[in-house]
Amino acid sequence: MPLRLTDEQARLAAKLVSDAKTRAGLTNGQIADKAGYVEKTVRDVLKGRCRVRKTVSKVCRALKIDLDVALNEAGLNDAAGLWCRFPPPRIEGDTQARAVRGALEAFLARDEDRFCRLFLDEEPLVPEQAERPWTEILAAAGYVKATPAGAVWPCVRVFFLDELLIATDLLAHAEEDQVFSLMLEQVFLVRSMDVRKGDHVLELCLGSGVNALAAAHRGAARVVGVDVSERALAFAAANAAVNLSRERGDAPLEILRGNLFEPLAAEDCFDLILVNPPFEPVPRGMRYFLHSHGGEDGLDVVRALLPGVPQRLRPGGRFEMYTCTLSDERSEWVTDLVLAAFPDFRVEVRRVACVPLEVSFTEFHDRPGYAGRDRPVSQGVTTHAWGLHFRALRDGPAGLVRIDAMDEVRACDATLSRWWREWRTNP
Ligand SMILES: C[S@@+](CC[C@H](N)C(=O)[O-])C[C@H]1O[C@@H](n2cnc3c(N)ncnc32)[C@H](O)[C@@H]1O
Repeated sequence: MPLRLTDEQARLAAKLVSDAKTRAGLTNGQIADKAGYVEKTVRDVLKGRCRVRKTVSKVCRALKIDLDVALNEAGLNDAAGLWCRFPPPRIEGDTQARAVRGALEAFLARDEDRFCRLFLDEEPLVPEQAERPWTEILAAAGYVKATPAGAVWPCVRVFFLDELLIATDLLAHAEEDQVFSLMLEQVFLVRSMDVRKGDHVLELCLGSGVNALAAAHRGAARVVGVDVSERALAFAAANAAVNLSRERGDAPLEILRGNLFEPLAAEDCFDLILVNPPFEPVPRGMRYFLHSHGGEDGLDVVRALLPGVPQRLRPGGRFEMYTCTLSDERSEWVTDLVLAAFPDFRVEVRRVACVPLEVSFTEFHDRPGYAGRDRPVSQGVTTHAWGLHFRALRDGPAGLVRIDAMDEVRACDATLSRWWREWRTNP
């Protein structure tokens, strides 16, 4: 039975569908009948033939169509489970962790392009003969889901970064507790952070755990991660199971739920405190992703965490933060806050990215859940978004030191262009 749309729904569908047409190269015939388009696309998706799943879920959300109902009406109820909100991956014990790691490694080594299409472009695949045993292992751990017709869908994204294989949420999981993907900031922080053998490391705002797990790989003796989101902590636990090895001597990841320093014991102090906080400016009263909700100017979490850092550092301890800040082309507002929090420290700043806001918003405005981010531009508050890496340490005289990071940024670009062929090297 075809889907019936109200005039308003049809108008919305027409817009979304024409956007999709441009992006996905659909023909006019395919988009002529909006209801037919939704139904046809849903059918194609379920058969693993459609490359525009994100568009379908966007269309259906905008139309307020309940996908389970739509699938039932279209006689596709056998696959209705595909569209549910996927739970975090679940890994029970070392044996399953090793099997998942082995399956991901084998899949990646066999064909990086297929791996990226499944786990980064979020497209379904029909598994080839050699991939079937791996997909069963990954399905049992909640990384993929198979349709009765034989297509395999990703339930998570999986990023490969050096030795790490990190699961995060699909972008289609456009809920407040979406677990943050890896981007330039994670690659930069992982590659540049100064972890020393035997360090006690704290990561605030843990998310998927990528930075903390990299610290464990580099010989940290204790690694603690704190996050407010239960979902993020479940992803971090699965990522720890897949990436850490007791035999290799990796420290386990200690996971704590709560606000910044609150869940720590009074005596807990660290050699290195890491953070990549939520930093996007969000209009007052707007619901938004926890991973990015930085309050009206994007700096709420940064302001809340900075004063607590010095007293949680062991003698000689260091602080590293990657954050973004709005500003104009010449300066970055957040630097003054960091200097004020570390008056006796050498504060190193690396400028990693400086993007005009229009460009930044163009990149994100099609993603599920990102509506409304263009407010600061229309208010004329700022013109640019800066990506900045800070390191505060006690070596050398106190004060601000700017450090050129272009070589490190270029090395990050090489990694990002393996994930996304269209990734453009930073100017
Ligand atoms: C930008 S994500 C970074 C995740 C991870 N560190 C990374 O680099 O991929 C920010 C994370 O901070 C968490 N968060 C937000 N507010 C927090 C708070 N007050 N205390 C602890 N965690 C918080 C969010 O749940 C989210 O997982």
